[in-house]
Amino acid sequence: MEAWRPLMLSITVFMVIMQRGEGQLSENFYSSTCPNVESIVKQVVDTKVNQTFVTVPATLRLFFHDCFVQGCDASILISSPNGDAEKDAPDNLSLAGDGFDTVIKAKAAVEQACPGVVSCADILAIAARDVVVKARGPSFDVELGRLDGLVSKASSVAGKLPEPDFDLDQLNALFAKNNLTQTDMIALSGAHTVGFSHCDRFANRIYSFSKSSQVDPTLNSSYAVQLMQACPRNVDPSIAIDMDPVTPQEFDNMYYKNLVNGKGLFTSDEVLFTDPASRSTVNDFANNPTDFNGAFGAAMRKLGRTKVKTGKQGEIRRDCTAFNNS
Ligand code: HEM
Ligand SMILES: *[C@@H]1O[C@H](CO)[C@@H](O)[C@H](O)[C@H]1NC(C)=O
Ligand SMILES: *[C@@H]1O[C@H](CO)[C@@H](O)[C@H](O)[C@H]1NC(C)=O
Ligand SMILES: *[C@@H]1O[C@H](CO)[C@@H](O)[C@H](O)[C@H]1NC(C)=O
Ligand SMILES: *[C@@H]1O[C@H](CO)[C@@H](O)[C@H](O)[C@H]1NC(C)=O
Repeated sequence: MEAWRPLMLSITVFMVIMQRGEGQLSENFYSSTCPNVESIVKQVVDTKVNQTFVTVPATLRLFFHDCFVQGCDASILISSPNGDAEKDAPDNLSLAGDGFDTVIKAKAAVEQACPGVVSCADILAIAARDVVVKARGPSFDVELGRLDGLVSKASSVAGKLPEPDFDLDQLNALFAKNNLTQTDMIALSGAHTVGFSHCDRFANRIYSFSKSSQVDPTLNSSYAVQLMQACPRNVDPSIAIDMDPVTPQEFDNMYYKNLVNGKGLFTSDEVLFTDPASRSTVNDFANNPTDFNGAFGAAMRKLGRTKVKTGKQGEIRRDCTAFNNS
């Protein structure tokens, strides 16, 4: 037995190195180096959500955008004096500042307990789960061990994020590039059960849909009237409305019930119900919250594996908004 010890130890060390080397994540990545990281982040998220609910959608969407643009590497958090970092791209789709603030505050709290150990990318992944739980959505285990990226460019955003006028094929193609299935895509779209959209993102559906019809015929007519009232022509561009008109502050499966009722806000939402190729999944999630909850957690874990940085591709940033050598 005793004779095996050194071998066992070197196997363990080797495995730890391999984990980073291969970009593999694990739930207990910080169990020896920062055992309380999850409770520290949760505390910050709780406090912040208590102050403002916007923290929930803002943090969740920030995680999605970070992962889709260059992988889950916190590159979206980098600020630049020149305005050419990832977050400065026009396609950042007006990310709300409360998501950035959540990660910055959580990082500060984590650094107090375990300086220089936990990546900003991992803190964002934990916070994205915690905001969902805080809004009474499903919990799930978060995989950890990401490094923070060394590159952040506004130009790298183009074409990486889905647009609200996408059809099912376009959505599937973009999610497939990130190793996500149609079911993952439908489950993740359920994030639109919280948060806001600016009027210009769907104005075409109520004012200029087609030559024959001003209003998108797949829109519920009473909902269309409601949208026109909230978003009149030439509305102040800063006006934003709830994406889930029924339970805007609950992370529930109402998003899918809305789709069944013609109350999906974007074309990319409603198409999940109108296209027969995805309708059965929408019906399932609308009728069985447990199915949605399970699928959402599984899809978030997969989303979190997107292009994880390892070795020389990354670092543990001291300040989430700046590279260490800047
Ligand atoms: C399926 C394709 C998707 C499209 C086309 C899409 C598009 C959009 C658009 C246009 C907005 C409104 C932005 C604004 O006007 O301020 C929005 C908001 C939002 N999206 Fe998505 N999105 C998609 C998927 C996702 C996914 C996968 C997540 C997260 C898992 C997500 C989370 C959110 C959240 C939480 C908001 C509200 C943000 C806030 O209130 O600050 N979206 N999305
Ligand atoms: C947030 O608010 C809830 C409900 O009011 C309360 O139970 C909880 O202690 C608060 N948490 C923090 C960290 O402020
Ligand atoms: C998003 O981009 C616009 C410019 O397109 C910029 O004015 C805005 O500050 C950016 N948002 C964030 C949160 O960085
Ligand atoms: C429109 O929404 C109402 C509820 O507001 C619902 O009763 C009705 O069935 C919906 N119409 C369609 C065509 O889905
Ligand atoms: C998708 O999975 C393959 C095989 O595991 C991997 O090589 C590739 O980098 C992944 N793509 C993304 C975007 O993470």
